[in-house]
Amino acid sequence: MSPETLAERLAAGSAPPVAADAVSIVIFGGAGDLAHRKLLPALYNLLIDGLLPPRVAIVGVGRRDFDDAGFRAFAKDGVTKFSRRPIDDARWKTFAESLFFVNVDLGDENGFVRLGARLDTVEHERGLPGNRVYYLAVPPSLFVPTVEGLRHARFIAPPDGKQFARLIVEKPIGHDLQSAREINDAIAKSFDERQIFRIDHYLGKETVQNILVLRFANSFFEPLFNQKYIDHVQITVAETEGVGTRAGYYEQAGALRDMVQNHLLQLLALVATEPPHSLDPDVIRDEKLEVVQSLRPLTPDTIDASVVRGQYAAGFDMGKPVPGYRDEDGVKPASTTETFVALKLFIDNWRWAGVPFFLRTGKRLPKRASEISIQLKEVPPILFNRNAASRLDANVLTIRIQPDEGFALGISSKVPGPRVQIYPVNMDFRYGSTFGASSPEAYERLLLDVMAGDATLFMRRDSVEASWQWVSPILDRWTERADADLPKYAAGSWGPAEADRLIGSTGRTWRQL
Ligand code: BG6
Repeated sequence: MSPETLAERLAAGSAPPVAADAVSIVIFGGAGDLAHRKLLPALYNLLIDGLLPPRVAIVGVGRRDFDDAGFRAFAKDGVTKFSRRPIDDARWKTFAESLFFVNVDLGDENGFVRLGARLDTVEHERGLPGNRVYYLAVPPSLFVPTVEGLRHARFIAPPDGKQFARLIVEKPIGHDLQSAREINDAIAKSFDERQIFRIDHYLGKETVQNILVLRFANSFFEPLFNQKYIDHVQITVAETEGVGTRAGYYEQAGALRDMVQNHLLQLLALVATEPPHSLDPDVIRDEKLEVVQSLRPLTPDTIDASVVRGQYAAGFDMGKPVPGYRDEDGVKPASTTETFVALKLFIDNWRWAGVPFFLRTGKRLPKRASEISIQLKEVPPILFNRNAASRLDANVLTIRIQPDEGFALGISSKVPGPRVQIYPVNMDFRYGSTFGASSPEAYERLLLDVMAGDATLFMRRDSVEASWQWVSPILDRWTERADADLPKYAAGSWGPAEADRLIGSTGRTWRQL
């Protein structure tokens, strides 16, 4: 008999991936923005949940002139501002005692010697066995030098040794297929693939992890997830923010590299994957890879017809005037970097043959909303759907990734009364009202999984490269047509009119979010 209440169910459920082994987490870029906003708050929340190993050292590495006390103050500021839970004095004290900082310039040959000496001291004092997680929270140009520095300094335990050494790599992994391969090759000289954890933080989001559960722990959906019943799928990741202070990076990236190549293709892979035969990390990753490998390759002609880019012009954010992209700090006045992409793609396999997938993402859109909608085919034009002038809405399953996490099922219902009037209604499930407490942040789950050595939610090399391979023709085409007009959209609108035409030409419309 299955347990009755949520509390019982949680108690009876599978154990969380507790990081049992004592470990040192070495964050290169420890005084940077990612550490401040995401990593240190995530580690603090793991401690609050009792998921951080009791014996741990978190060692920030960077050029900033911090001592341990300075780093602890920096961490406290980040946790105060960005943690999902407030600071608790007693817990904070325990956490702060595990924080250390080593001032190292990664270009300096002696830097790794000093780092090694400090790690040895800290590990000795805290009784740590030398298990290490190295986190590359640094610009991509420093990935390879840092990894080589680790190898030369002999900081990398072999994959099957007594101690473990694991490497976390942040995106972007390259700016095209060639550069991604170069980075992957260089890292592979020092770390075995089993030791490498490439982050796509979307995979750590609760709602994204729920996609497989929704599909394969229910019998409602899976029988319908195929070309026989699905009309089309839409994936939207909309942001209200502009480029902010990240123009230096974003000017070289643009929305296709920044969002589509990784986050959106990963969401697509989860929605479209075949059922894996087990929950083994590589089995799941093999199945997801198959999806990316089955994407219909794009040619210059199909790109012009099925991929739309756009760039935001001046407009409004919540009623406040905001500048256009070209007027943002650090952006070239004639920049052709796209801040919006919409595209139509097909997965050429048995399950999805002929079903269009529409993806769109952009900055400075009217609201922050990420969702996946799976629209079923219309019911036949008989019985209730005979009136060609007012067809019934097709059923839609909407998975809300963020905010307002949950999912909804759009169905048709009779309006009470003597006449047969049909009205679209929603069956709506919200995490907040069912499960209460705020969900863990993506980085909490991802850091925990690295400590536990579980690679399921991380990008394998072949998957990163397959994604680059698929987007490469788009990048090439845009480079070729650099002087072609780049459609503009007003900040605070849903992207350029071309995006509406893209989906409109198939007789469909973007969902209103
Ligand atoms: C990052 C991109 O990977 O994802 C950013 O580099 C983007 O440009 C961010 O803003 C969006 O993440 P989230 O979790 O806020 O949806």
